[in-house]
Amino acid sequence: MNILHLWMFTQALVSSNALSNGCTNIIINATLKSKVFLPCHFNTSLYNNTVTWSHCKEALLRIVSNNRINFDNTREGRLNVFPLVFNEGNFSVLLDDLQAQDAGVYVCEMSTECWRIIIREVPQSTNHFLNPWFYFAAGAGLFTLLFTAVCLLSKCCEENASESSAVGGVLRDGLNPIQGT
Ligand SMILES: *[C@@H]1O[C@H](CO)[C@@H](O)[C@H](O)[C@H]1NC(C)=O
Ligand SMILES: *[C@@H]1O[C@H](CO)[C@@H](O)[C@H](O)[C@H]1NC(C)=O
Ligand SMILES: *[C@@H]1O[C@H](CO)[C@@H](O)[C@H](O)[C@H]1NC(C)=O
Ligand SMILES: *[C@@H]1O[C@H](CO)[C@@H](O)[C@H](O)[C@H]1NC(C)=O
Repeated sequence: MNILHLWMFTQALVSSNALSNGCTNIIINATLKSKVFLPCHFNTSLYNNTVTWSHCKEALLRIVSNNRINFDNTREGRLNVFPLVFNEGNFSVLLDDLQAQDAGVYVCEMSTECWRIIIREVPQSTNHFLNPWFYFAAGAGLFTLLFTAVCLLSKCCEENASESSAVGGVLRDGLNPIQGT
Protein backbone atom coordinates (compact mmCIF):
# COMPACT_ATOMS: atom_id res chain seq x y z
CA MET A 1 0.00 0.00 0.00
CA ASN A 2 2.87 2.34 0.80
CA ILE A 3 4.52 1.70 -2.53
CA LEU A 4 1.23 2.49 -4.22
CA HIS A 5 0.96 5.73 -2.26
CA LEU A 6 4.49 6.66 -3.14
CA TRP A 7 3.76 6.14 -6.79
CA MET A 8 0.63 8.27 -6.56
CA PHE A 9 2.63 10.95 -4.83
CA THR A 10 5.18 11.08 -7.64
CA GLN A 11 2.39 11.00 -10.17
CA ALA A 12 0.91 14.18 -8.75
CA LEU A 13 2.38 16.70 -11.13
CA VAL A 14 3.29 20.08 -9.84
CA SER A 15 3.32 23.33 -11.69
CA SER A 16 4.23 26.61 -10.18
CA ASN A 17 4.10 30.22 -11.21
CA ALA A 18 5.20 32.77 -8.69
CA LEU A 19 3.75 36.12 -7.81
CA SER A 20 0.24 37.00 -8.63
CA ASN A 21 -1.48 39.07 -5.93
CA GLY A 22 1.59 38.65 -3.73
CA CYS A 23 1.26 34.91 -3.34
CA THR A 24 3.36 32.15 -4.74
CA ASN A 25 0.78 30.19 -6.72
CA ILE A 26 1.02 26.47 -7.25
CA ILE A 27 -1.36 24.08 -8.92
CA ILE A 28 -1.17 20.41 -8.03
CA ASN A 29 -2.98 17.72 -9.97
CA ALA A 30 -3.50 14.80 -7.63
CA THR A 31 -5.44 11.57 -7.61
CA LEU A 32 -7.72 10.41 -4.83
CA LYS A 33 -6.00 8.53 -2.00
CA SER A 34 -2.61 9.95 -2.94
CA LYS A 35 -0.29 11.89 -0.64
CA VAL A 36 -0.11 15.55 -1.54
CA PHE A 37 2.82 17.70 -0.49
CA LEU A 38 1.88 21.34 -0.02
CA PRO A 39 4.97 23.55 -0.04
CA CYS A 40 5.27 26.78 1.94
CA HIS A 41 8.49 28.67 2.58
CA PHE A 42 9.17 32.05 4.09
CA ASN A 43 12.22 34.13 4.71
CA THR A 44 13.34 33.02 8.15
CA SER A 45 14.36 36.51 9.15
CA LEU A 46 10.68 37.40 9.03
CA TYR A 47 9.64 34.34 11.01
CA ASN A 48 8.33 36.10 13.98
CA ASN A 49 4.72 35.99 13.08
CA THR A 50 2.13 33.31 13.16
CA VAL A 51 2.02 31.09 10.11
CA THR A 52 -1.47 29.93 9.23
CA TRP A 53 -2.69 27.23 6.90
CA SER A 54 -6.24 27.27 5.61
CA HIS A 55 -8.30 25.34 3.10
CA CYS A 56 -11.04 27.26 1.29
CA LYS A 57 -10.84 29.87 4.09
CA GLU A 58 -11.36 27.25 6.79
CA ALA A 59 -8.49 27.34 9.30
CA LEU A 60 -6.40 24.17 9.43
CA LEU A 61 -3.51 25.08 11.72
CA ARG A 62 -1.43 27.87 13.16
CA ILE A 63 2.27 27.78 13.89
CA VAL A 64 3.29 30.41 16.39
CA SER A 65 6.83 31.73 16.63
CA ASN A 66 7.90 29.42 19.45
CA ASN A 67 7.19 26.52 17.04
CA ARG A 68 3.98 25.57 18.81
CA ILE A 69 1.36 24.11 16.51
CA ASN A 70 -2.33 24.73 17.08
CA PHE A 71 -4.48 22.51 14.94
CA ASP A 72 -7.92 23.78 14.07
CA ASN A 73 -8.58 20.76 11.93
CA THR A 74 -6.24 17.81 11.42
CA ARG A 75 -8.37 16.41 8.59
CA GLU A 76 -8.88 13.20 10.54
CA GLY A 77 -5.14 12.99 11.22
CA ARG A 78 -4.26 13.11 7.53
CA LEU A 79 -2.50 16.47 7.81
CA ASN A 80 1.21 16.14 8.63
CA VAL A 81 3.57 18.93 9.61
CA PHE A 82 7.38 19.02 9.75
CA PRO A 83 8.32 20.89 12.95
CA LEU A 84 12.04 20.17 12.52
CA VAL A 85 12.23 22.47 9.50
CA PHE A 86 10.18 25.39 10.83
CA ASN A 87 13.40 27.13 11.76
CA GLU A 88 14.50 26.96 8.14
CA GLY A 89 11.34 28.83 7.20
CA ASN A 90 9.85 25.65 5.79
CA PHE A 91 6.20 25.31 6.78
CA SER A 92 5.23 22.75 4.16
CA VAL A 93 2.61 20.16 5.06
CA LEU A 94 1.73 16.74 3.74
CA LEU A 95 -1.85 15.63 3.28
CA ASP A 96 -2.39 11.87 3.31
CA ASP A 97 -5.05 9.86 1.56
CA LEU A 98 -6.54 12.63 -0.56
CA GLN A 99 -10.34 12.82 -0.39
CA ALA A 100 -12.64 14.47 -2.91
CA GLN A 101 -13.49 17.24 -0.45
CA ASP A 102 -9.76 18.09 -0.09
CA ALA A 103 -9.69 19.74 -3.50
CA GLY A 104 -9.54 23.49 -3.65
CA VAL A 105 -7.43 26.39 -2.50
CA TYR A 106 -4.94 26.13 0.35
CA VAL A 107 -3.30 29.24 1.69
CA CYS A 108 -0.19 29.37 3.87
CA GLU A 109 0.26 32.88 5.22
CA MET A 110 2.75 34.77 7.28
CA SER A 111 2.03 38.46 7.72
CA THR A 112 1.68 39.77 4.16
CA GLU A 113 3.36 36.87 2.40
CA CYS A 114 1.56 33.80 1.26
CA TRP A 115 1.61 30.57 -0.69
CA ARG A 116 -1.55 29.69 -2.54
CA ILE A 117 -1.82 26.06 -3.54
CA ILE A 118 -4.65 24.67 -5.56
CA ILE A 119 -5.27 20.95 -5.40
CA ARG A 120 -7.10 19.63 -8.42
CA GLU A 121 -8.41 16.15 -8.24
CA VAL A 122 -7.63 14.26 -11.42
CA PRO A 123 -8.82 10.78 -12.41
CA GLN A 124 -6.63 7.86 -11.56
CA SER A 125 -4.36 6.08 -14.02
CA THR A 126 -4.86 8.41 -16.96
CA ASN A 127 -1.62 6.93 -18.18
CA HIS A 128 -1.55 3.15 -17.92
CA PHE A 129 2.15 3.06 -18.66
CA LEU A 130 2.92 4.96 -15.46
CA ASN A 131 0.89 2.51 -13.42
CA PRO A 132 2.89 -0.40 -11.99
CA TRP A 133 -0.35 -2.40 -11.81
CA PHE A 134 -0.49 -2.16 -15.58
CA TYR A 135 2.80 -4.06 -15.75
CA PHE A 136 1.62 -6.43 -13.06
CA ALA A 137 -1.56 -7.18 -15.02
CA ALA A 138 0.36 -7.41 -18.28
CA GLY A 139 2.84 -9.77 -16.60
CA ALA A 140 0.04 -11.90 -15.20
CA GLY A 141 -1.57 -12.01 -18.63
CA LEU A 142 1.70 -13.00 -20.26
CA PHE A 143 2.24 -15.66 -17.62
CA THR A 144 -1.19 -17.12 -18.28
CA LEU A 145 -0.47 -17.10 -21.99
CA LEU A 146 2.90 -18.79 -21.55
CA PHE A 147 1.45 -21.28 -19.09
CA THR A 148 -1.29 -22.14 -21.56
CA ALA A 149 1.26 -22.50 -24.34
CA VAL A 150 3.53 -24.71 -22.22
CA CYS A 151 0.47 -26.60 -21.10
CA LEU A 152 -0.60 -27.31 -24.65
CA LEU A 153 2.91 -28.33 -25.65
CA SER A 154 3.40 -30.68 -22.72
CA LYS A 155 -0.15 -32.02 -23.08
CA CYS A 156 -0.84 -31.41 -19.40
CA CYS A 157 -4.27 -30.24 -20.50
CA GLU A 158 -5.34 -33.78 -21.33
CA GLU A 159 -7.55 -33.61 -18.28
CA ASN A 160 -9.60 -31.00 -20.11
CA ALA A 161 -9.71 -33.21 -23.15
CA SER A 162 -11.08 -36.12 -21.14
CA GLU A 163 -13.57 -33.73 -19.49
CA SER A 164 -14.99 -32.80 -22.84
CA SER A 165 -15.26 -36.44 -23.80
CA ALA A 166 -17.03 -37.00 -20.48
CA VAL A 167 -19.52 -34.34 -21.53
CA GLY A 168 -19.85 -36.26 -24.75
CA GLY A 169 -20.50 -39.36 -22.67
CA VAL A 170 -23.27 -37.64 -20.73
CA LEU A 171 -24.80 -36.62 -24.01
CA ARG A 172 -24.69 -40.17 -25.22
CA ASP A 173 -26.03 -41.57 -21.95
CA GLY A 174 -28.96 -39.29 -21.28
CA LEU A 175 -29.56 -36.46 -23.63
CA ASN A 176 -29.00 -37.92 -27.02
CA PRO A 177 -32.42 -38.16 -28.67
CA ILE A 178 -31.26 -41.22 -30.61
CA GLN A 179 -30.47 -43.01 -27.36
CA GLY A 180 -33.90 -41.97 -25.95
CA THR A 181 -35.88 -43.61 -28.65
C1 LIG B 1 -3.40 19.58 -14.53
O1 LIG B 1 -4.54 19.17 -15.24
C2 LIG B 1 -5.01 20.11 -16.18
C3 LIG B 1 -6.26 19.56 -16.81
O2 LIG B 1 -7.06 18.91 -15.90
C4 LIG B 1 -3.95 20.38 -17.22
O3 LIG B 1 -4.39 21.38 -18.12
C5 LIG B 1 -2.67 20.85 -16.53
O4 LIG B 1 -1.65 20.97 -17.49
C6 LIG B 1 -2.25 19.86 -15.48
N1 LIG B 1 -1.11 20.37 -14.78
C7 LIG B 1 -0.06 19.63 -14.55
C8 LIG B 1 1.04 20.28 -13.82
O5 LIG B 1 0.01 18.47 -14.91
C1 LIG C 1 14.91 38.01 4.09
O1 LIG C 1 14.42 39.18 4.68
C2 LIG C 1 15.46 40.08 5.09
C3 LIG C 1 14.85 41.24 5.83
O2 LIG C 1 13.72 41.73 5.16
C4 LIG C 1 16.25 40.51 3.84
O3 LIG C 1 17.30 41.34 4.21
C5 LIG C 1 16.80 39.27 3.14
O4 LIG C 1 17.42 39.62 1.93
C6 LIG C 1 15.68 38.30 2.83
N1 LIG C 1 16.25 37.07 2.28
C7 LIG C 1 15.74 36.46 1.22
C8 LIG C 1 16.42 35.20 0.82
O5 LIG C 1 14.78 36.90 0.60
C1 LIG D 1 10.13 39.70 16.51
O1 LIG D 1 9.43 39.87 17.72
C2 LIG D 1 10.17 40.51 18.72
C3 LIG D 1 9.36 40.50 20.01
O2 LIG D 1 8.08 39.99 19.80
C4 LIG D 1 10.52 41.93 18.29
O3 LIG D 1 11.29 42.55 19.27
C5 LIG D 1 11.28 41.85 16.97
O4 LIG D 1 11.51 43.16 16.48
C6 LIG D 1 10.51 41.07 15.93
N1 LIG D 1 11.31 40.90 14.75
C7 LIG D 1 10.80 41.01 13.53
C8 LIG D 1 11.75 40.78 12.40
O5 LIG D 1 9.63 41.26 13.32
C1 LIG E 1 10.64 21.33 3.51
O1 LIG E 1 10.50 20.25 4.42
C2 LIG E 1 10.02 19.06 3.82
C3 LIG E 1 9.83 18.05 4.93
O2 LIG E 1 11.01 17.80 5.63
C4 LIG E 1 10.97 18.59 2.76
O3 LIG E 1 10.47 17.43 2.13
C5 LIG E 1 11.17 19.69 1.74
O4 LIG E 1 12.12 19.29 0.78
C6 LIG E 1 11.60 20.96 2.42
N1 LIG E 1 11.72 22.01 1.43
C7 LIG E 1 12.83 22.67 1.24
C8 LIG E 1 12.82 23.69 0.14
O5 LIG E 1 13.82 22.50 1.94
